[in-house]
Amino acid sequence: MPTRQKAEPATIVIFGASGDLTKRKLIPALFQLVKDGLLAEKITIVGFARREKSHEQFRVEIEDALVEFARSKPEAGSRELKVFSSCCYYQTGNYDSSKSFHDLKKLMDKLGEERGIDSAKANRLFYLSTPPNVFSGIVAMLGQAGYISDPNDKNRWTRVIVEKPFGRDLETAYDLNKSLSSILDESQIYRIDHYLGKETVQNIMAFRFGNSIFEPLWNRRYVSHVHITVAESVCVEGRGGYYDNSGALRDMVQNHMLQLLALVAMEPPASFAPDAVRDEKVKVLSAIPPIEKSKVNECSVRGQYAAGTIDGKLIPDYLREAGVKSNSVTETFVALRLHVDNWRWAGVPFYLRTGKALTERLTEVNIEFRQPPLALFSHIKNNDGEEQDHMKPNMLSLRVQPNEGIRLSIGMKVPGPKMILEPKDMEFSYSDVFDVEPPGAYERLILDAILGDSTLFIRQDEVEVAWKLVNGILEGWASEELPHIHLYRAGTWGPYAADEFIINDIRKTVAL
Ligand code: BG6
Repeated sequence: MPTRQKAEPATIVIFGASGDLTKRKLIPALFQLVKDGLLAEKITIVGFARREKSHEQFRVEIEDALVEFARSKPEAGSRELKVFSSCCYYQTGNYDSSKSFHDLKKLMDKLGEERGIDSAKANRLFYLSTPPNVFSGIVAMLGQAGYISDPNDKNRWTRVIVEKPFGRDLETAYDLNKSLSSILDESQIYRIDHYLGKETVQNIMAFRFGNSIFEPLWNRRYVSHVHITVAESVCVEGRGGYYDNSGALRDMVQNHMLQLLALVAMEPPASFAPDAVRDEKVKVLSAIPPIEKSKVNECSVRGQYAAGTIDGKLIPDYLREAGVKSNSVTETFVALRLHVDNWRWAGVPFYLRTGKALTERLTEVNIEFRQPPLALFSHIKNNDGEEQDHMKPNMLSLRVQPNEGIRLSIGMKVPGPKMILEPKDMEFSYSDVFDVEPPGAYERLILDAILGDSTLFIRQDEVEVAWKLVNGILEGWASEELPHIHLYRAGTWGPYAADEFIINDIRKTVAL
């Protein structure tokens, strides 16, 4: 990653400014960046959406959102809140109307003039936080209205952040890439995956490539298997319509989880330049053989939650959520086994597991190491002090969220006259060792886009290779007459069939 330079003045246009993401994440992230002095003073934010609204109404909404969602919460009516909201403007418009884009341009030119910014030198960041079906249309309109600068122009830049979902399968992702790249240069497209903005996700690279002790063990000779878990205790949270059309595989695996896998499994990049890192991610994702349609049930288990209790709260069946079809077979849980067929990882299974309405929120990568070649010790206990016939393998856990930290489980001699071994954890927690609050994922990523650093954004080929991987699974599932979907009670760890699948699979692999 290039060293941090000071952000240049820029206008940020948020399409989809009335949406939840704008209110909960984007505006709070921009506020924090201003507060931390990371953005240039001449920052202008323009919200664009269909709803009729004045600048003043938009500012009131922004202030309310910041009081509720900002990381460092400002006082209602405070000066810092007013100063920030006075840089925010609103443009009502339709995503397919040339007139709306013309009006937006007029507004931006006027704001530029007031701030003394020559339009030939105006930097613009467009954030597409709209439903995906209008992404291409917006970019086409931006092109027609003359917003897109030459990527080689040294005086100004245009960048476009594209939110997920980036397509709903390989074909639609391919079409979207094609239509965006007919107007924008790849260097101007910033496909966002907010997991890459998380400090602990970036720490996977720091942990692996900034230290020498684990990397020599990071391969098939020492690692028996890897688990990547993204458990959520939330349900569909009012997004039933979107979610039912998507499911856990598209919503979490194709993007966030494959990104985690790529960071865990990739080769060290030659440098931290954006393309050096992304080349390695593409290489490792390309080394995963896509699951064939006919083999889908041998490597995946999907589930759907039924009524249960989470934190004392009664959760209804998924099928009773607003926006969900009453006979839906959409998966709210998926467990998968993937292999990375390369020199480093051949034969090491990677188990991915994610679901909604589970017992707790937990994102963790667990690297389980092989057993020592000889079982020298006969007195072994487990964590509960019960006798065991074999030692629990060493396990390294990278805890992404919450209680961010790292844990290494090792066998220790229990003090006393006998040689009895028991597994104990060496642990560190971020909150104990760093007394700064980490920036939110969107803060980091929006700042990177303004600075022109695309390392933590997804490149065109990366999106396509990730879709190639999940396409076979989607096709396999879609071709089943009787879908193999396992119900699980909300508030549990998912369907029993998933545990069984993973345990049996590990037994087979370890026995090999
Ligand atoms: C989003 C998904 O991309 O990530 C949501 O659409 C999910 O369904 C969310 O809840 C999880 O993000 P986080 O940061 O809360 O782990």
